[in-house]
Amino acid sequence: VLDCSVSLNPLGPPLSVLAALRRATLGPPGGRPAIANYPDPDCRALVARLAQGHAVDPTQVVVGNGANDLLYAIARALRPRRAAIVEPTYTEYLRASLRAGAAVDHWLVDDNFHPKPFDPEGADLVWVGNPNNPTGALWPADRLVPWMSAHPQTTFVVDEAFLPFRPDEAVHSLVASTARLANLVVTRSLTKVYTLPGLRLGYAVAGERLAAAIRQEIAPWSVNALAQSAGLVALDDAPFLARSHAWFVEHAQPFAGQLRACSAWLEPLPSDAAFVLVRLKGCTASRLAGRLEEQDIAIRQADNFIGLDDHCVRISVRRPEENSRLLAALQTVLEA
Ligand SMILES: Cc1ncc(COP(=O)(O)O)c(C=O)c1O
Repeated sequence: VLDCSVSLNPLGPPLSVLAALRRATLGPPGGRPAIANYPDPDCRALVARLAQGHAVDPTQVVVGNGANDLLYAIARALRPRRAAIVEPTYTEYLRASLRAGAAVDHWLVDDNFHPKPFDPEGADLVWVGNPNNPTGALWPADRLVPWMSAHPQTTFVVDEAFLPFRPDEAVHSLVASTARLANLVVTRSLTKVYTLPGLRLGYAVAGERLAAAIRQEIAPWSVNALAQSAGLVALDDAPFLARSHAWFVEHAQPFAGQLRACSAWLEPLPSDAAFVLVRLKGCTASRLAGRLEEQDIAIRQADNFIGLDDHCVRISVRRPEENSRLLAALQTVLEA
């Protein structure tokens, strides 16, 4: 099956990571493999590597079992009375908020899905996806920072799970602002860009006090030895990241335009991510997904995102030959 429904880097996992996993599983000749020992509960080597990479203090970094683990830990740590979510977005922000006992306000973006600051009106927690899933929209950092500074009573979680795909990620990332803004947490995932969703690895960066509160909510040994080894090796694999960035520029950035050119029935939104939200004209998402499934192609029906309906799908960018296969299939199905 050509899976364009999940948003993972089609170039990964990196070979360097697979080799590290093999070493951690088999161990050195005659020695104990890493998985025969308990992992470091504090992920010290990984925390140090992440802190060095982001030029922040290690006390600001919390590693978890995937970014999702951190979203729930953040909600538990903050115990918000009210949370605000900019919709449509990743549904786990809602689940994490509700599970922590919060009442939730949903803010709908405008028809063009342009993100813009709003008055959180007393919400103690605001969730922001950057770039946002499923719209692919990126919030400009120069709008986010003044917004957060203007609302010091509200904690903002900025989810940068998909940002590392972009070669210009440093320009957009708010990690550097976490030392200055006590009400900001940035979450990041290593499962998307390094294609390791089955392994689970993510982290949060925040001011020291907030980071300590989040760390309290992560159960000891949550991040296993394989994930810790893989993370260290992945972060040092600069050639893999460079290839991924080149793929993003060459294949992900033009993808919305290619979808638009492929059929007049497709209305793709401009995207800053490696997936595109598409409005369908004259066809439902379930019907299109069904027709593509007959050709062993999966796309994501987007009707379970708040604010979207059964005329929206999310399509992920894959390798060039796979993108061509998808575009040809879309044309056949829609233009028939
Ligand atoms: C926006 C967003 N944030 C976070 C996650 C979770 O990432 P992880 O696999 O690191 O838990 C996802 C997964 O789909 C996502 O779409």
